[in-house]
Amino acid sequence: MTRINGATKLYGLIGHPVKHSLSPLIQNTLSIVMGINSVYLCFDVSPEQLEEKVKNLIGVGVEGFNVTMPHKEEVIKYIDEMSESALYVDAVNTVFVDKGIVKGFNTDCDGFVRSLKESFGCGVKGDSVLMLGAGGAAKAIAVGLLQDGCKKLYIKNRTLKRAYDLKESLPIYADRIEVLENEKHIHEDVDVIVNTTSVGMHGALEGKSPLPESFRFNTNQRVVDIIYSPSETLLLKQARGKGASTLNGYSMLFWQAVIAFEIWNDVKVGKNELDKILKILRENGVLI
Ligand code: ATR
Repeated sequence: MTRINGATKLYGLIGHPVKHSLSPLIQNTLSIVMGINSVYLCFDVSPEQLEEKVKNLIGVGVEGFNVTMPHKEEVIKYIDEMSESALYVDAVNTVFVDKGIVKGFNTDCDGFVRSLKESFGCGVKGDSVLMLGAGGAAKAIAVGLLQDGCKKLYIKNRTLKRAYDLKESLPIYADRIEVLENEKHIHEDVDVIVNTTSVGMHGALEGKSPLPESFRFNTNQRVVDIIYSPSETLLLKQARGKGASTLNGYSMLFWQAVIAFEIWNDVKVGKNELDKILKILRENGVLI
């Protein structure tokens, strides 16, 4: 139990809506287990309120906050210094008010790669990756993968133009990105497959796969879905059934949060603490 006193620091999440966010559970568990005197709350902020609320949060001394839909791009207007990843993605999901300087980060990039390293024991250096989707999440993941040294990033998206737009928005990595124009061009022998689309998600698209039915997985493949509801999508179920290693969306969600926490508090979450944190989260339904 966190003891709130005069020294308790306040962190939070701004977005719209934020009611169902798992970030408070993850961040408050982190601060309890790490012994940091802080609390993390959600603030529902509509697009019209963004400027006023960001200034208010900083004004009352909030040291850091996460940013989610629909503010990740707009919030850049209020940032003094952007990290390299945030600049490439052109979106901020973590703000740190460091001695009065408002710094913007995108921990989705490193969070995704760290989730691979922690779960599979390796990143993507020298690997070929097939990424399904070309939306906001895809861009952060693409930057993370390319920064980590993936050899080739194949992008397949329903709307072809968006895939080309993503490639063009990352000119320094363009030689390692290839847009796949249709399903026939999908390579089966890639090292890593990442689904960033909504296909398979709880609701109308549940039980669907973003890959063609004929796709053959192999046992050396690592297959990641950033969807966490359901915790095992059809894509992951099929991949696991063929012996591939799989990872669901709780992992990226967790690691982007850990990296934000580490930035705010200038700490590293160690192995012992990690085990305790994961145990608490699993007991609370976060099926990492
Ligand atoms: P996010 O920020 O979560 O990435 P987004 O920017 O809206 O959200 O992107 C959603 C992704 O899911 C896109 O790649 C989208 O494809 P389009 O660019 O063609 O819209 C993909 N997507 C959503 N519904 C889909 C569907 N029914 N079939 C295939 N792709 C779908």
